[in-house]
Amino acid sequence: MPTPVLYCRDALDPRRVDAHFAPEAREVRACGGTVGLIDHDALLRGDARQAVAHVPAGLGSVWYRGWMIPGDRYAALAEALSGRGAELIVTPEHYRTAHELPGWYATFADITPASAWRPTEPDEMPASVELAALAEPLLPGAGIVKDYVKSRKHEWEQACFVPDLADAAQLTRVVRRFVELQEEFLTGGIVLRAFEAFSRPESVAAEVRVWWLDGEPRLLTPHPDSPFERAPVPDLDRIEPAVRRLGCRFITTDVALRSDGVWRVVEVGDGQVSDLHQSSSQGELAALLVGP
Ligand SMILES: Nc1ncnc2c1ncn2[C@@H]1O[C@H](COP(=O)(O)OP(=O)(O)OP(=O)(O)O)[C@@H](O)[C@H]1O
Ligand SMILES: [Mg+2]
Repeated sequence: MPTPVLYCRDALDPRRVDAHFAPEAREVRACGGTVGLIDHDALLRGDARQAVAHVPAGLGSVWYRGWMIPGDRYAALAEALSGRGAELIVTPEHYRTAHELPGWYATFADITPASAWRPTEPDEMPASVELAALAEPLLPGAGIVKDYVKSRKHEWEQACFVPDLADAAQLTRVVRRFVELQEEFLTGGIVLRAFEAFSRPESVAAEVRVWWLDGEPRLLTPHPDSPFERAPVPDLDRIEPAVRRLGCRFITTDVALRSDGVWRVVEVGDGQVSDLHQSSSQGELAALLVGP
């Protein structure tokens, strides 16, 4: 039986798939898969029952593909779907494990930049001494700031990169700006990571997104932000065992070549909410999800 896939509906035309995912959903149908629609706005508002009101009854095991969902909302989605005879293949526990850095970090500790985190509420600013203590195990060197899910990499100088983690005033300034800009979207807490120098090749993507299904690397794509359509083939020998240990069925790893020639995991993500590079084959991804 082809596995159905749930997409977000278009806010302006609720019978259609959100325009960003519509080509992929077409490929799912072309592979014989059923497409169901959820209302992402209603889900984030706290109305999970409304969010699934138009999902056909009795779909059985389903994938979700669409915009990111906070961990607690994903659990609410799973519960609302079970009331309609549908079960998310990725459990809420596994979703959180892959989606939030503290969930996957320990499993990847040897192959990803050293990291430390502290739970915070949106708009909560930790004291300077606390940030200095958090940074201590990452010294010496530069660092980057993010939350459990996202960085502000487009505001690199003011809200992401810390040239010297030992400089408490500088660290505090960057974290404060990050907290301000994230507003209510700050997820989980503050993460500090040791900066590593990655190579910046001239005509291929610097970061490769590896799509893993059941512990197998099934698709390699450029990172969605890359201007290049070609991605180098990474060495996955040390990464594959970690992916298997994590035990989540469908994840992505963004990998980059460190300047000393070692492939490193920049970030892990849940495959359901990982964006696909515009040059990549939506058909291949759809075929993976729908199954044989
Ligand atoms: N520890 C690090 N050392 C060096 N560069 C880093 C480090 N962590 C992140 N970066 C750079 O910052 C970018 C953003 O970091 P990251 O991927 O963790 O955040 P994000 O906002 O979740 O990004 P995405 O768009 O992939 O979801 C990375 O693509 C990488 O170029
Ligand atoms: Mg990233």
